[in-house]
Amino acid sequence: MSKQIVEPCTYVIFGATGNLSRRKLMPALYHLEEAQRLPHGTVILALSRRDWSRETWIEEVRGMVSGQARGGLDEAVFERFAHRLQYLRADLNEDSAYEQIRTLLDEDEAYPSNAAFYMALRPAEFGVVVDKLKSSGISREEHGWRRVVIEKPFGYDLESAQRLQKHLHHCLDEHQVYRIDHYLGKGTVQNILVYRFANVLMEPLWNRNYIDHVQITHSETIGIAGRADYYDGAGALRDMLQSHLMQLLTLVAMEPPPSMDAESLRDEKVKVLKSIRPITPSAVHAHSFRAQYTSGIINGEKVKSYLEEDGVPPDSTTETYAALKLYIDNWRWRGVPFYLRTGKRMAEAKSAVSIRFKVPPQHLFRNTPVERVKPDWLLLGIQPYECVRLEMQVKEPGLEMKTRTTSLDASLRRDDEAAYDAYEDLLLDVIEGDRTLFLRYDEVEWAWRVVDPVVRTWATERDFIHTYPAGTWGPQETRRLFDKEDQFWRHSLLPDED
Ligand code: BG6
Repeated sequence: MSKQIVEPCTYVIFGATGNLSRRKLMPALYHLEEAQRLPHGTVILALSRRDWSRETWIEEVRGMVSGQARGGLDEAVFERFAHRLQYLRADLNEDSAYEQIRTLLDEDEAYPSNAAFYMALRPAEFGVVVDKLKSSGISREEHGWRRVVIEKPFGYDLESAQRLQKHLHHCLDEHQVYRIDHYLGKGTVQNILVYRFANVLMEPLWNRNYIDHVQITHSETIGIAGRADYYDGAGALRDMLQSHLMQLLTLVAMEPPPSMDAESLRDEKVKVLKSIRPITPSAVHAHSFRAQYTSGIINGEKVKSYLEEDGVPPDSTTETYAALKLYIDNWRWRGVPFYLRTGKRMAEAKSAVSIRFKVPPQHLFRNTPVERVKPDWLLLGIQPYECVRLEMQVKEPGLEMKTRTTSLDASLRRDDEAAYDAYEDLLLDVIEGDRTLFLRYDEVEWAWRVVDPVVRTWATERDFIHTYPAGTWGPQETRRLFDKEDQFWRHSLLPDED
């Protein structure tokens, strides 16, 4: 994760007028400009089919950035940023587009010959772009590096991921491929590693002897935000769980790597994925749960059911909620369930890792008003609360022996420290050639191997899906995943709120 002085590059954005570019990429690049992290001479070349001039594009970008600029748009920064912005009207299916890019990179001094190509595109379009980057000769690293950034989904299931990889491998070297999982760019996600490996306190407890179970939750209050064409074919399992949540699991469960370089870290993550006990077809129901939201109330407003969303087929059984129980069969974790869940239109928007410890082996307070010793929890809030919270039992003040739960809180961000977006870190890493926070292909493949049996079974069950009203924590029936009666979904990061 080291940051060094780096050479300038041409950052080519395919699909520059699309949603991802508007919401994430342009604001992130602007913030990098503000932080003076874009190397001098770096050019941002937008590609799109729209018949726009460079001036129109700059005004568009102003619109994309101004709503999201921290502390409001700074005109001087934007002016500097605008100098870097170039626009090329191009159809990515046409050879001529690549000829133009090649000429700019090879012959125009204003365009640095190091180049990153960001695919802010539909997955169906990746293939044609990498083919043409190869056939036009652009992907050859003769006069500088050439890197290709790919957004998830990396395939639709194990087989399609393998096909996509074969295709990428045919056109590019693995060191040129940057597979983004934006969760790894979140500071709080990276903090899981710091918390575990820069402190000595937790490591002795971080195993099956002390941990009862682990929960990883990502809940959202938003619905599918107009993305029915993508989401209805994907569902929550592919959209969030196979990717982001599985990555969180690897960081929580991995062994300390020999060093923090990209390969060492990724080797350890892959070991975790390989150690996950395969879910056999007959165990799919015991290990997974899916559901879909019906209409309900979010923040006091009535919202539609999934089936009423624009573009969703009326008989869709696509899940908007998915939960899995996984076991990692290694010395550290054998027998400890990892419960993962994610959902749209839930009661709160929140991501957290909640770790429940075992109860003390001896119940010393049996003959006192302390009826039952509560287990300790370690809560790692990822968003919106960025915190590390360790819940413990303490004695209540007073003459009686009563306990209450209190927590040691370590806030991760001071009020005067700005939150930054995951894409800022990741876009910069691409320029710096740091692949630590990007996925290696075997990580993707092994994550698919874990969920593939579930994907296959759900694909055959097209008649019924559980439902939950929008604005709730999902159906009660998900409880069936728990191994023990006293386990429950931990929704809150505060004691006694669940
Ligand atoms: C994306 C999913 O990868 O992550 C979206 O496709 C989801 O459906 C989003 O809303 C969540 O990301 P974040 O950063 O808002 O938690």
